[in-house]
Amino acid sequence: MSEAQFLTGLSAVRCDVDLSPLTTFGVHAVARFFARAQDDETLVSLYEAARRDNVPVLVLGGGSNILFTRDFDGLVVSIASRGVEVVDENDDYRFVRVAAGEDWSAFVDDCLQKGWCGLENLSLVPGTVGGAAVQNIGAYGVEFAERVSEVECLDSVTLQKVRLTAQECDYGYRTSVFKTDKRHLVVTAVTLALPKVFRPVAGYKEMQAYFADRTPADARELAEAVKAIRRRKLPDPKEIGSAGSFFKNPVVSRIKMVSLLEETPQIVTYPMAGGRAKLAAGWLIEAVGMKGKRVGDAAVYERQALVLVNYGSATGAQIKALADEVVFKVKRRFGVELEPEPVII
Ligand code: EPU
Repeated sequence: MSEAQFLTGLSAVRCDVDLSPLTTFGVHAVARFFARAQDDETLVSLYEAARRDNVPVLVLGGGSNILFTRDFDGLVVSIASRGVEVVDENDDYRFVRVAAGEDWSAFVDDCLQKGWCGLENLSLVPGTVGGAAVQNIGAYGVEFAERVSEVECLDSVTLQKVRLTAQECDYGYRTSVFKTDKRHLVVTAVTLALPKVFRPVAGYKEMQAYFADRTPADARELAEAVKAIRRRKLPDPKEIGSAGSFFKNPVVSRIKMVSLLEETPQIVTYPMAGGRAKLAAGWLIEAVGMKGKRVGDAAVYERQALVLVNYGSATGAQIKALADEVVFKVKRRFGVELEPEPVII
């Protein structure tokens, strides 16, 4: 197929586009075709064209949860829809519909400016609103899943619009139906249920230390605490390339947790329902001596071992090799398998 054929009627499609400015890792990778979808109609026509010409499609949100280790021989679609509107309210909640292409962190700040609460714990999380819905972002005691009411998406197989209730999104720790469903649902908009009364979620250890004996007065004050805590530990994606936590905190059975604690009582564990436990992966990585390890410009961040960074010109393959070394060493020492959070291409 020639590029001219593929481009017929789709003047917005560009060829051989460097994706490094479009992902927070900032590693070099080239998309054979690239387009922005400002609305659902454009998204559908891009899928139709790609299907007609047998070109694989990859959807990008804010590029904060993806690592390219090679070029992409297909069409990369960047979701670029915009818009925030209050669609309903009752005594307890304000229902806010947000386009998937909106920047999550800017949207949270905008809510705080308007005096809306509920998202303050999720301040400064990089990526788009669509990405937040796919990933079920979570930080400092709050997950996206707890604030969502409905998700609108495009079924990329039938090209029909689909609306899912929060329950149908099947949210779990850093997972959702959007990661697992064979229909390859592309999130186009979300409706959040924002509580009208501010109820601080401030039980997180560092948050308690920040507020000492006080209770945060309002959502803005809590957001300031979250931002200060994040800035201490997490790299600013505008300055240092990263995808936030590179690994999920692994969940182990009760039996495994007991045997780990017998051997290594200092291990940091968080008990879960059903007797299982989540382990602090950052602790495990630090314990195997990988915190701060640097190979060229790829490194395990020195302030938070769960984060892999690109100090400038690391390749995706170098970051992946470092990640593999982390996985290998943690497995060898603790018998626990770390699972990467970002999509690796
Ligand atoms: N720890 C270490 N060494 C390290 C890092 C962590 O020993 O280098 C131990 C410490 O004991 C610490 C514990 O791990 O108390 C937990 O660390 P932290 O509070 O930084 O949280 P996390 O479990 O490493 C998770 C999320 C973050 C989120 C924070 C706060 C995942 C994969 N990551 O990190 O999310 O901001 O909790 O809620 O669940 C992200 O997903 O990109 C992300 C940054």
